Amino acid sequence: MDKLVIEGGRPLSGTISIHGAKNAALPILAASLLAEGKVRLHNVPRLLDIEVMLGILNRLGCKAVFEGDCVTVDSSQADSFHIPEELMGQMRSSIFLMGPLLARFGEVCVYQPGGCAIGERKIDLHLRGLEALGAVIEESDRRIYCRASKLVGADIHLDYPSVGATENIMMAAVLAEGATTITNAAREPEIQDLQNFLNEMGASIIGAGTDTITIKGVAQLSPCEYRVIPDRIVAGTVMIAAAVTRGNVTITECNPGHLVSLIHVLRRAGIQMQVSNDIINVSGLIRPKAVERIVTSPYPAFPTDLQSQVMVLLALANGVSIMKETVFEGRFKHVDELVRMGADITVDLHSAIIRGVPRLYGATVEATDLRAGAALVIAGLAAKGKTVVEQVHHIDRGYDQIEVLFSQLGAVIHREAPVLRQLDPA
Ligand code: EPZ
Repeated sequence: MDKLVIEGGRPLSGTISIHGAKNAALPILAASLLAEGKVRLHNVPRLLDIEVMLGILNRLGCKAVFEGDCVTVDSSQADSFHIPEELMGQMRSSIFLMGPLLARFGEVCVYQPGGCAIGERKIDLHLRGLEALGAVIEESDRRIYCRASKLVGADIHLDYPSVGATENIMMAAVLAEGATTITNAAREPEIQDLQNFLNEMGASIIGAGTDTITIKGVAQLSPCEYRVIPDRIVAGTVMIAAAVTRGNVTITECNPGHLVSLIHVLRRAGIQMQVSNDIINVSGLIRPKAVERIVTSPYPAFPTDLQSQVMVLLALANGVSIMKETVFEGRFKHVDELVRMGADITVDLHSAIIRGVPRLYGATVEATDLRAGAALVIAGLAAKGKTVVEQVHHIDRGYDQIEVLFSQLGAVIHREAPVLRQLDPA
């Protein structure tokens, strides 16, 4: 497995543009099944999760091709509604292929995607939503078979504003008979991007970005060309890295409107920022101040996907901060690794108490999940000395060559592939 080697202690500086959003591209790629013909998607990031999704679409009979940052999906020959268990296991997000496959074929067969390092990640809200639209669901062992002779619009209330469940129900409802209303819907920008893509294909959806989404079923959708929004979590990761390395970084092609909660936290920490319509400049000239309390919650509150990264800033801040994680029950796995780098953090169930220290020290650490890995890279950039981050494949799921991203800003970071042991000649 690859590892990243970082010589820390150098302020980041320069200008960087942000690649397309993984969590917008994945549901939009799944939604390409809803219209026969060629969908062209621009600003798609080259990430492991995207490659897995394209592999699944090709397995279902589509022709998915990735050229530059453009993906073309021709779903006219799609002929399967069965996602093999081994592919479900590679990426949990394959669960939101259920809605499009059910809408297109009237049936779908998937497998429990299982939990992951950050938590149990149930799918009950997805299944209840599809049942409300008329699907009959049979679960046996890990297999989930779902069929619907006809999908009929319904009023669906989500017990929790689940991003994936909101997206799955939207995609199942677009071709249903009649109207569907989702209340207590997730409000993330990626949901708005999915609505805009589906409407570009001829759907009739309003309300994405609010807690009530209305979908009027239409007879059919047509393929379209679409550009995915910038990745707010990658942008936020770069902002935090600029702050903790006392650097000066300008981020272009981003959407500050998607980062209001992070900008608010960084301002409370005393970080200087200039924000315009698609540019953010961050200059971390001072030691950050502690932030009394940050609570992760569904958008527009502070995002769980930036929790581990901002914890590095709090670990170096002047004072004591408290971070409460309310979205995923297993999202503090980066804490032990940060403590090994000199951080002073104690975890009490879903809260972390972070006592700021003047500096972190390089160490060999292990990424356990995507955003925890990103946090360890940020810690390595700020730390004194050399840091080696192992299990980098977790990070590659959500960052397109993170070492190139930070090298462009002056970081001394490189990737090392494992040296294959030379077999003795026979
Ligand atoms: C999406 O995951 C994102 N992934 C996650 O990003 C992100 O952390 C999460 O939303 C929250 O913002 C993609 O969009 C591909 P949820 P998702 O359904 O849809 C519980 C990253 O780092 N829940 O909103 O799986 C669940 O257990 C990834 O890029 C149920 O109980 O998130 C969790 O505690 C990580 N039943 C909470 O809701 C359900 O049926 C939030 O899950 C569904 C979810």
